[in-house]
Amino acid sequence: MNILAVGIATLDLVFGTDHYPAEDEETRAQSLRISRGGNATNTLVMLSQLGHACRWAGVLANTPESAIITGELDQYCIDYRHAARHTGRPPTSSITLTARSRTIVHYRDLPELTADEFAAVPLHDVQWVHFEGRAIAELRRMIARVRAECPPCTVSLEAEKWRDQLESVLPLPDVLIAGKALAAHLDLNTPAAMLDWLRARSPQARIALAWGEQGAFGDADGQRLHAAAARIDRPVDTLGAGDAFNAGLIDALARNLSFSQALAHANSIAARKCMQHGFALS
Ligand code: FRU
Repeated sequence: MNILAVGIATLDLVFGTDHYPAEDEETRAQSLRISRGGNATNTLVMLSQLGHACRWAGVLANTPESAIITGELDQYCIDYRHAARHTGRPPTSSITLTARSRTIVHYRDLPELTADEFAAVPLHDVQWVHFEGRAIAELRRMIARVRAECPPCTVSLEAEKWRDQLESVLPLPDVLIAGKALAAHLDLNTPAAMLDWLRARSPQARIALAWGEQGAFGDADGQRLHAAAARIDRPVDTLGAGDAFNAGLIDALARNLSFSQALAHANSIAARKCMQHGFALS
């Protein structure tokens, strides 16, 4: 399927350490990976390896460091020709990675993609558009454009974190993906409470809720669903596990699997990702 994802691409500096350092500690990392990151492009890198034709829309910084991002997009045949380019540095994350955690310090001063910039991204050959839930006013206009110009397109939205006016876009996607971070912000501590909250604001969408070790929950076609987490024998890298989950969900739905099968597939792709470093599926 031809899939377009809209969101950020980052420069990730991933320091692998055997323990999480204490404040003011000086510690030696066992590994360093400098790579492309960012939810939308992480998801695309996996979707491309799962056999889909992928395109990315977002903002690229006009600096030499962006070559790390574009080099990896090229490696996975992700079309970024229509990305907007701005002066500045790429959004950058310093990540402390242990076997159990990935602690992210993120810096960005690059502007978000605007709806006017998104207007230059071709949609005629696209069948699925996946959005990150950010820059909500712009996002509303971008989804409106997809609906107007590409009525058969499926629209998915990742509502990972709370954003101003987030609720205004929840009635728009066909597939809505949320997780524990948003639930924690809303002080909703059970999957059922979170699904109730999402369903009340998104009556139209098929909803997936990633809930860590308890697996994934869903609400689709009038049914509450649950898929147990896939077994992770030895976690080594949980960075981007949620992005891998999104890729698994989209991949399964694009192949017309049921929503329940899609939740299970998303869990297994996320688990597979946690047992390896980075996003190259081995
Ligand atoms: C993982 C990730 C990293 C990036 C950060 C941005 O989900 O996309 O690749 O640095 O989150 O918030």
